[in-house]
Amino acid sequence: MPKRQPSSAPSAAPEVQVYSPTARRFHWLVVGLILVQAPIGLYMVYRGSTLNIWDAATNALYSSHKLIGMVILLVAMARLGYRVVHGAPDDEPTLEPWHKVASAVNHWGIYVLLLVVPVLGWLGVSYYPALDVFGLVKLPGLVAANKETAEAVFVYHAYAAFALLALIGVHVGAALYHHLIRRDNVLARMIPGLLKRR
Ligand code: HEM
Ligand code: HEM
Repeated sequence: MPKRQPSSAPSAAPEVQVYSPTARRFHWLVVGLILVQAPIGLYMVYRGSTLNIWDAATNALYSSHKLIGMVILLVAMARLGYRVVHGAPDDEPTLEPWHKVASAVNHWGIYVLLLVVPVLGWLGVSYYPALDVFGLVKLPGLVAANKETAEAVFVYHAYAAFALLALIGVHVGAALYHHLIRRDNVLARMIPGLLKRR
């Protein structure tokens, strides 16, 4: 009878789990929307408030920013709902404990700001009021008009938007660090085509 293998044989490395197709679609859709939304926000304020050009182009930029911002709010709510119901795959097996803490803080900070930033924008245009979008639709107003409060809310909207962009900057830096320096499978969790078998 053949002898049984000793049970101390090295076990297989843990499987890398990737995000579901729906989670990945949500992720890259939001990336695309933010890539358009943030530059429009910065440029429209520069063109309007700094250069004092209030023509049809500036108006179109403001309308686009309001429209895309409301779409981001809806997509972020749907995405967060999906995340809470379906959860996320187990962490990449080679992560250090501090990586796990840092990424959880970063991800949940991004989720919160993806809701707070557009809600503050919507609140600001409600107070102003500047609810018109391309002369075609009017966003629902949340509060009675008060221009002074609107100005204050826009300051918070800008701070929150810059905080969101800072978290995204750290997030992208971390993704590149994992892929190019640590050479692990973190980025592959969002782009499974990059998966390396260990
Ligand atoms: C995630 C979504 C959003 C992002 C990332 C974003 C980002 C920004 C940024 C970067 C600015 C320029 C701030 C500055 O330079 O002072 C800005 C301004 C502005 N945003 Fe948004 N925004 C978002 C959603 C919204 C929404 C939903 C609305 C309204 C429905 C809105 C209305 C405005 C307005 C009216 C300004 C100009 C404020 C001013 O003149 O001081 N934003 N936004
Ligand atoms: C607007 C830009 C971005 C936003 C708002 C964003 C947001 C997020 C959020 C909220 C998560 C957590 C997902 C969850 O567990 O539910 C996540 C995960 C991830 N993101 Fe992004 N992201 C952005 C851009 C990017 C870019 C440009 C890359 C790649 C270079 C990237 C790579 C990843 C990876 C690899 C994960 C999975 C990390 C892990 O848990 O292992 N993200 N992202």
